[in-house]
Amino acid sequence: MSVSSRNRYNAKRKLETAARKMAEAEEFLREKNAPTGRSLPRDLQTLVDATRFAIGFEGLCDKLGKPPTTVRKLIALARESGINLQVGNDHVQLSPQEQVRTVQDTAIQPTKAKRQSAGVLSDLHAGSKYCLRAQIRDCVEHFYSRGVRQVLIPGDLLDGCYKHGVFELSHTGLEDQTQDLFEILPALEGLSYHAITGNHDHTFTELTGVNVGAFITGYFKERGRDDIRFYGDCGAFLHIGGAVVHLWHPLGGASYAKSYKLQKQIEKYGAGEKPDILLTGHLHQFAVVEDRGVFAVLCPTFQASGSAFSKRLGGQPALGGLIISWEIAGKDLVRNFSVERRRYFEVEGPTKVRP
Ligand SMILES: [Fe+2]
Ligand SMILES: [Fe+2]
Repeated sequence: MSVSSRNRYNAKRKLETAARKMAEAEEFLREKNAPTGRSLPRDLQTLVDATRFAIGFEGLCDKLGKPPTTVRKLIALARESGINLQVGNDHVQLSPQEQVRTVQDTAIQPTKAKRQSAGVLSDLHAGSKYCLRAQIRDCVEHFYSRGVRQVLIPGDLLDGCYKHGVFELSHTGLEDQTQDLFEILPALEGLSYHAITGNHDHTFTELTGVNVGAFITGYFKERGRDDIRFYGDCGAFLHIGGAVVHLWHPLGGASYAKSYKLQKQIEKYGAGEKPDILLTGHLHQFAVVEDRGVFAVLCPTFQASGSAFSKRLGGQPALGGLIISWEIAGKDLVRNFSVERRRYFEVEGPTKVRP
């Protein structure tokens, strides 16, 4: 190849690389600026709301009041529109990664002239040999002794049925793990648990199509307990004590910077979508970040280190629960947010809470 043709060849390669980089940058900007909130046609919005939890196809037809042919067309239309609906085992469900943006009301009103508070228990992993049962009970009793009556749980209540974790289970199957959870979570007068499911809970849905939140609620109800409520799979926005709280259970591993996932999530909220508080499960670590007016917390776990999943997350989980509290100033303006961490160590025995 002569010098001039080599120069022409190199120049062409440089132009092609520049054009590719420009296209990638434009794609990145398009994604970054794309609104995350969607305004859907009413039929599709109803379908999305109805499939927040796994639902049988016949039940879905009844719920929508439409014949099977129309519902099938609606599901196809939803998928064409980019809504990630999973269909399997005669069940339909919005993908757990599809965040439901509608704010759900817990009916917990702010107490006047007082700080609002809630306990946070995340990643309990009931059914796992590594679940710190005594510490969970102690933590809830501690919440109660401090006047906390609402407990928020951002996912992974059960250890589920991942193949790689099958030898780490103390309880196998949905019913046994739910029984374990039932025995772990104290029933205390006036105290309620508000939860979403996480990826470990969702393994039962993937296997059988069962709605895990509904199963747990039903199990508790059959045994006389009405103190647990589920709001979605892997994500839900709740109105509680005058604040909007986003319970979130992301997927994937941890980053070196613990705040990374929190900041990325805060960046994604569109105008009018920002919650006051973001509670993030799954990563078994503790961090607090405030950005764009959102108080974001990475929540510690009650699953001790040693499990295969814990090793994947770095092997040194942050253990314990949290009490979050805030004040409401003016109309739903959240101010003076604080986090108190009740930390546990794997080697210590549970401490008794004195009244
Ligand atoms: Fe977890
Ligand atoms: Fe998880």
